[in-house]
Amino acid sequence: MLRQSRQRDATGRAIPLHGPEGFAGMRAAGRIAAATLDHIEPFVQAGVSTAALDRECEAFMRAAGTVPGTIGYKGYRHASCISVNHVVTHGIPSDDKILAAGDILNIDVTPLLDGWYGDASRMYVVGSASVRARKLVGTTYAALMAAIAAVRPGARLGDVGHAIEAIARRERFAVVRDFCGHGVGQVFHDAPQVLHYGVPETGIVLEPGMIFTIEPMLNAGKADVKVLGDGWTAVTRDRSLSAQFEHSVGVTDDGVEIFTLSPAGRHVPAGLP
Ligand code: MF3
Ligand code: CO
Ligand code: CO
Repeated sequence: MLRQSRQRDATGRAIPLHGPEGFAGMRAAGRIAAATLDHIEPFVQAGVSTAALDRECEAFMRAAGTVPGTIGYKGYRHASCISVNHVVTHGIPSDDKILAAGDILNIDVTPLLDGWYGDASRMYVVGSASVRARKLVGTTYAALMAAIAAVRPGARLGDVGHAIEAIARRERFAVVRDFCGHGVGQVFHDAPQVLHYGVPETGIVLEPGMIFTIEPMLNAGKADVKVLGDGWTAVTRDRSLSAQFEHSVGVTDDGVEIFTLSPAGRHVPAGLP
């Protein structure tokens, strides 16, 4: 039986505490998520459709012995989410969406291996993007890594969210509040909810064995988002650019383990300011 924390998250759900088996499962699934994001990088070019990228991600995940965890999830039908420019998250791959030079995009994949979901996303830049776009991408990555650096037993989720907010504020970018990170493991979206903003020394106290994603979204304009009529695509209301990075992490006895580090060391696009 999976152990559970005595703490509950804001949704009232108990938070699973995973043991070595869970960490091993997440390590294996997370590695394939990251390898998929490495694999897709050379395909991200002007003129390619987001549906073509999705098919390439799907082929890679299946060849690696995994199943895309997003297919069939709440009716979603694709192996990835691909969110271009002002799309904040959950962009649906489409043959009609053709990448152009200067676009920035997030690709999010969740391969399922032996029952474990490895959830990760990364930004890509098509050709050369504007200084502001590259600043947004670099700051979002810095915010994710600062949040991960705050993860250790005894730290609190408010510390994690605050780390993101502090970095975003420094660059005057807005943190999206409508979507959050989540517990992950043998359940795709589990407790706890991981907010990307917060007050230090508040919220759930991190315990060894907790496994969750951190996946901040930063907007160049205002924080407000809306979901389009397809029920998935979230866009900035002011049509400003948005960026997101996601890692799946586990709380260890003395710190944090990142399950979705790039095997090729390509965590972030080259050439950011
Ligand atoms: N991978 C996304 C996340 O980070 C969830 C995508 S759900 C889908 O939580 F159905 F849109 F694929
Ligand atoms: Co996620
Ligand atoms: Co994801």
